[in-house]
Amino acid sequence: MKFDVLTLFPEMFESLNESVLGRAIEKDLIDINLINIRDFSKDKHKKVDDTPYGGGAGMVMRPDVVYDAYKSVYKPNARVIYMTPQGKKLDQQKVESLSKEQHLIILCGHYEGIDQRVIDEINPEEISIGDYVLTGGELPAMVLIDSVSRYVEGVLNEESTSEESFSTGLLEYPQYTRPEVFENREVPEVLKSGHHENIRKWRRAESLKNTYNKRPELLKDVELSDEDKKLLNDMN
Ligand SMILES: C[S@@+](CC[C@H](N)C(=O)[O-])C[C@H]1O[C@@H](n2cnc3c(N)ncnc32)[C@H](O)[C@@H]1O
Repeated sequence: MKFDVLTLFPEMFESLNESVLGRAIEKDLIDINLINIRDFSKDKHKKVDDTPYGGGAGMVMRPDVVYDAYKSVYKPNARVIYMTPQGKKLDQQKVESLSKEQHLIILCGHYEGIDQRVIDEINPEEISIGDYVLTGGELPAMVLIDSVSRYVEGVLNEESTSEESFSTGLLEYPQYTRPEVFENREVPEVLKSGHHENIRKWRRAESLKNTYNKRPELLKDVELSDEDKKLLNDMN
């Protein structure tokens, strides 16, 4: 999958070269192409922003410079996304659907944002990472790239994503590793039993318990078996 990222701060994306994503880049499973919007400024000082019409604080990114940067990577089959706090909130469903694409173009705003005319011209899908305002779209773009890349074939083994929080509609069960005893707290016996069916049942029950205690509103969208319903009844 190819990500073209339009940004004023390409250096911020260096952290994506680490860990799982770093390996995915090395194996050519994902390609992150950073386009510095400033390179498209025709101004001799490479200016990319200006004061807002109508007055007010801060600077606004110029439409012509952003548009030229966008045109340099645009392809008809690309899905174009603008990271903005005004967009639809990112969730696991959206992440999984984006991971099926071959080419994402991600536009990052900065300062007070981007001149509305270029947003209207490009007509991107607007995505937010939450109801708070950050200084720029770079961190949100990294959140999007990281979450989407995990679902690109070959980046993780399928088991890692099929049971984790949100993929089944529930939160995941608790995880344990060595040592067997830590500060007098023991690993649950069933996980050491090697009995796959009992482990599956325990994990399902813990998943339900976690969801019930931490995010009960998620339960209304989950298909529950009779066994699940009985477990939830016992929790009430
Ligand atoms: C300071 S913000 C501009 C906020 C804008 N003036 C407003 O009130 O809606 C600068 C840039 O950061 C990005 N940004 C900030 N918060 C975000 C969020 N929660 N999700 C996605 N992008 C965000 C956007 O690209 C935005 O253009």
